[in-house]
Amino acid sequence: MCGICAGIGHENQIDDVVCGLKKLEYRGYDSSGIAFLKNGEIQAIKSVGQIKNLEKKIDDEVCSHVVIGHTRWATHGSVCEENAHPHISQNGEFAMVHNGIVENFENLKGNLNCNFKSQTDTEVFVNLVEAESGTPLERLMKASRKVVGSFAVALLHKNTNSIFLAKRKSPLMVAVGKDGVFAGSDISVFAGKFDFCYIFEDDEFAIMEEDGVKFFDLNGNQISKKAVDIRDFDFYDEDLNEDFYMLKEIKEQPAALRKTYFKFFSEGLQFDFEAIKKFKSFHFIACGTAYHSCLLGAQFIQQFCKKDCKVSIASEFRYGSNIYSKNCLYVFVSQSGETADTMACASLVKEKGLKVMCVTNVPYCSLNKLADFVLPTFAGREVAVASTKAYTTQVFTLLIFALFLNDKATRLQDELKRFVLNLENLQFNECLLEEISKFKKIFFIGREQDYVSALEGALKLKEIAYLNCLGMPAGELKHGTLALIDPQTLVIAISTQRALKGKMESNIEEIKARGGKVLLISNFKHNVETDFFVELPDFDEMFMPIVSIIPLQQLALNFALKLGYNPDKPRNLAKSVTVE
Ligand code: F6R
Repeated sequence: MCGICAGIGHENQIDDVVCGLKKLEYRGYDSSGIAFLKNGEIQAIKSVGQIKNLEKKIDDEVCSHVVIGHTRWATHGSVCEENAHPHISQNGEFAMVHNGIVENFENLKGNLNCNFKSQTDTEVFVNLVEAESGTPLERLMKASRKVVGSFAVALLHKNTNSIFLAKRKSPLMVAVGKDGVFAGSDISVFAGKFDFCYIFEDDEFAIMEEDGVKFFDLNGNQISKKAVDIRDFDFYDEDLNEDFYMLKEIKEQPAALRKTYFKFFSEGLQFDFEAIKKFKSFHFIACGTAYHSCLLGAQFIQQFCKKDCKVSIASEFRYGSNIYSKNCLYVFVSQSGETADTMACASLVKEKGLKVMCVTNVPYCSLNKLADFVLPTFAGREVAVASTKAYTTQVFTLLIFALFLNDKATRLQDELKRFVLNLENLQFNECLLEEISKFKKIFFIGREQDYVSALEGALKLKEIAYLNCLGMPAGELKHGTLALIDPQTLVIAISTQRALKGKMESNIEEIKARGGKVLLISNFKHNVETDFFVELPDFDEMFMPIVSIIPLQQLALNFALKLGYNPDKPRNLAKSVTVE
């Protein structure tokens, strides 16, 4: 979390940096700020809240050719202007923006004789730089050696017409154009302006100047780096043509699924399925929504390939007593490819000499760099914090993956095509919303693949409408949770598997017997009366997890709007979770 960007060029860079920050706002929006050089002095403008608040504070006449910027997701210290970046060192020599965590900041702080104005680890880092001797780059390198933790930083020095960059664990990239040099936490900041960019490895440093960039290792030796081509990167469709990105992204799902299909079946996506077939088992690891995709991925492989699969939440796997096997492929699913817990588990598996596959939506992300096999998803850029199209494309990609492993994909190609061509965006009935929005206690239930939709549907409602709800296996109700069912409870029952219809009907009866209200979401009729019903289009069962989640995403979105919340920027969350 936290996004940084920096620009140096022949023209004023303020607008470009603010525009870059807007692209990075998904990484946190507690506060934002810029610092720039003006007549040999460092000046800073900061604001609490979204970047639009910062924009209001920047006068039209503010102009600088050397600018750094930051959008914050608070880790150390509360949300306030003092804790907003950039942080300026005690003597005003340096300004720093930082994404990451200085784990030993308390120790470092004790050795610095400074009056700290903020509670942040970054203010310690920038003062550590100031306390060192040598050129600005040497001082940054010396300070970096003392830091334990993660960082992507951009640093201004008041007497130097340059920007200094450093990276360890947090992502950082830089691009050179004819009008200047630009750096940022992700590739989106280069959209429409640059064709190539350089991606930093850990403990690499750089000096950005108006005419180019020079790279260095931790010992100060200049190094050469190869630029990557970003012309194919999906920058398209970033403009908001709906009221909210989440709505836009929900509606883009049919198109994203079509794109996924065509990538596999007519655009010749290169992937070594033969190498994957050699593995005897699979262990899926991820966080949040991506963990839900993993649950389905594992079900698909067990169903179609009859191979053993395990699924773990990354933060649990990381410290668990796992049994490792070289015959197992460790599959990491992540929209961003930057999630700290997921990354840490992938590194752990690599260190044991085992094979890592990743399924990611962002090209050149950190996870891709350490994976042996990379299976991309084609959701396009997902801006809203709550994942929607990234989830359904992950699920579809994992389904196709499982079918390819069992050589079924080509046989089922027509069926897959029919699905993507016929899937429409599903709306959630407004009157129904009116009825169910009075419930404050909501459970989501389902079995097998519908249980995964129950988990994901509940997560959406929690994260953007702040409702206390729970997704659980329908069969588990009677082992405790049934005690909570009363006439004030709504249970959303997802039932898309005909073989389990009778079991779901019994669970619904149990809820009704306790006075609970039931909203059934299904593609077929059940022999039980429910209070509300959402009819799904009827596709083959393997597609139904993708179909059933769309009205649940809509429900969460409409619920959030009804309660007056901005669904794109839920409180306390950020899209790229780079803290543990
Ligand atoms: C929920 C959501 C999060 C992410 C989780 C993992 O809507 O977006 O739960 O799924 O933070 O993120 P990635 O997929 O980037 O690893």
